[in-house]
Amino acid sequence: MPNIGYVNGRFLPLEEARVSVEDRGFQFGDGVYEVIRVYGGKPFRLKEHLSRLERSAQAIAVPVPLSPGEWEAKVDEAIRLSGFPDGKVYIQLTRGAAPRDHQFPASPDPTLVMTVREMPPVDSRMMAEGVTAMTLPDLRWGRCDIKSLNLLPNVLAKQQAKESGAFEAIFVRDGLVTEGTSSNVMLGCEGVLLTPALGDNLLAGVTRQEVLDLAREEGIPMEERSVTLGELKAADELFLVGTTIEILPVTQLDGKPVADGKPGPMAIGLASRFKALVG
Ligand SMILES: Cc1ncc(COP(=O)(O)O)c(C=O)c1O
Repeated sequence: MPNIGYVNGRFLPLEEARVSVEDRGFQFGDGVYEVIRVYGGKPFRLKEHLSRLERSAQAIAVPVPLSPGEWEAKVDEAIRLSGFPDGKVYIQLTRGAAPRDHQFPASPDPTLVMTVREMPPVDSRMMAEGVTAMTLPDLRWGRCDIKSLNLLPNVLAKQQAKESGAFEAIFVRDGLVTEGTSSNVMLGCEGVLLTPALGDNLLAGVTRQEVLDLAREEGIPMEERSVTLGELKAADELFLVGTTIEILPVTQLDGKPVADGKPGPMAIGLASRFKALVG
């Protein structure tokens, strides 16, 4: 099978996968999700993604239908069926199908959907040349640490970025940087790696943690704390990190070059460590 779909226990070709129009994920965005990268036929940091999925589901009181071991077996099976050495696994867990009513159904029957798609490596030109970003107000809700299906502000911001010729939008709330629409943000400032501290306003990115671990091994000083818009604009270098983009330098922000307009040494060094890690 090429692109794989999985719905409530059944694997099938992606184009045949279906869920009910009454699914609360479709009706209300009432669910959570994960995106996991596959390198060389192996899911990258699967345990970390699955434990975040569990945390997200618990935070919105959606019952989790599989044990950790069952999750791992399902993901492995999906990857094996796809036959893709390099791909991405998408997992979506919703409160299930029920007649439309805001309150939870009395006996929720969660819907578990998984897809596996092939994914080419990140464009090496974007890595070599860097990408552009723009800042936008963070209009999202107060629990961005939950990887919820409600992505409308992210979708609108990413579209606005695209229409402005930018690759990513970086959200700013009350003068503080939170994260990108689908990435975490890191800055280099006088040799220190700075990134917004975890909290309700941003996702605890699996890649963010991986990059911090690599930076620690490299002996790069780092600070996880509030980062102001002023610091973002004055950074010596800026980069985005996330499952699908890995580590991408930002060389232009809000139409102005970041420092000298070239990818910075921290991003270059960490990206090459990351590449080595994922083979
Ligand atoms: C809002 C947001 N922040 C950060 C990230 C990066 O998280 P991860 O590295 O776990 O993919 C994502 C990933 O999609 C995201 O959607």
